[in-house]
Amino acid sequence: MSRVLFVFGTRPEAIKLGPVIEALRLDPSFEVRVFVTGQHREMLAQVLELFEIVPDADLELMKPDQGLSEIAAAVLTGMPELLSAMRPDVVVVQGDTTSAFAAGLTAFYAGVDVAHVEAGLRSGDPLAPWPEEVNRRLLSVFTRYHFAPTEDARANLLREGVDAARIHVTGNTVIDALKKAISRIEADDALRARLDSELSFLDPARRLILVTGHRRESFGAGFESICQALLEIAREHPGVEIVYPVHLNPNVQEPVRRILGGHERIHLVDPVGYFSFVRLLTRCELVLTDSGGVQEEASTLGRPVLVMRDTTERPEGVRSGNLRVIGTRREVIVSEAGLLLRDDDRREAMSRPGDAFGDGKAASRIAAILRAADGSDETR
Ligand code: UD1
Ligand code: UDP
Repeated sequence: MSRVLFVFGTRPEAIKLGPVIEALRLDPSFEVRVFVTGQHREMLAQVLELFEIVPDADLELMKPDQGLSEIAAAVLTGMPELLSAMRPDVVVVQGDTTSAFAAGLTAFYAGVDVAHVEAGLRSGDPLAPWPEEVNRRLLSVFTRYHFAPTEDARANLLREGVDAARIHVTGNTVIDALKKAISRIEADDALRARLDSELSFLDPARRLILVTGHRRESFGAGFESICQALLEIAREHPGVEIVYPVHLNPNVQEPVRRILGGHERIHLVDPVGYFSFVRLLTRCELVLTDSGGVQEEASTLGRPVLVMRDTTERPEGVRSGNLRVIGTRREVIVSEAGLLLRDDDRREAMSRPGDAFGDGKAASRIAAILRAADGSDETR
């Protein structure tokens, strides 16, 4: 039996690892353990509950307005004891957070194989997204199993000299999570009614724009400009309402609540549970975001996305016509949103559901690869 330790700390890692944990737990060839760093607290708890994941250990490292070195240091010093006690065969991390990078590095130092879910995404700019682009590049240097979501991601890894035999294209596990959530919501009338009653503050007669934003490189001027743009969009389009689940980072909360608080058609809400967020995605007409996961989900569902960043590591969604990268300048956000709201053809062209990010079977592919690797790997 192979001992597999999952380590993660934030909301998107939990959403994207949830299906993999579930797949491995159903398979008797694996002994599964879950260690959370606690980089997020409330936002992580929402997802753990949904996937019924009870962590075996929790570093509880989150502090208000925490620094990147603090996160990395807490993982690097808190995790070795756990590794010695558990002696896993493989440590699985996901994506590009500082928890993922520091956990991977700690496993590498301990001589444990690292499996990286969502390997190979690249924006090409070390400063955007910051620090994520560098976190994921560094992970690729010592990772043993690279689970690349797409062919683009595989090509990025090959270009950096990663051994082709160690790269496996699986699809993105977020699509597994999304499909599961959609089926549950469609099949369960009571759940759907509960989600809609939580969203009863929305006026079904208005056109809905869904907004999220949290990138560190946009703190300060970027967020001021994003918020001014949202205010102007609400002013220019009286038939529109905006719902914005505001990330708990104080650098986001402060400008968002100061600039947008009190507007009757701009609903600032706390981060919502995954089912509620998926319901919002299915109900909205347009998404403005800087989130990685939301770009993938909205493209899959056929919701047009204006990406409020200067780069994306998800070119698949740009090619499929769902994503448009527009940066954070106020006037550009206002005009791009205006074009989509006024021009039905333009909006419809960006509203085609796509499968560029995966087919919902990524977790079972990952389980099969790890099962086949168990004990038979002579390339270590
Ligand atoms: C982190 C990740 C980012 C990921 C994002 C997902 C890094 C460097 N950043 O960014 O890649 O896209 O998570 O959301 O790893 N906070 C709370 N409660 C929570 C979560 C956060 O109060 O449940 C507040 C705390 O004040 C915390 C701050 O938000 O210090 C920042 O959290 P942190 O995880 O450092 O950064 P994010 O911006 O969330
Ligand atoms: N999400 C959620 N509730 C919210 C906002 C987002 O459950 O209020 C989900 C969303 O569906 C996606 C993930 O969180 O799967 C994205 O997380 P985030 O934007 O924090 O991080 P990123 O994807 O940019 O790393």
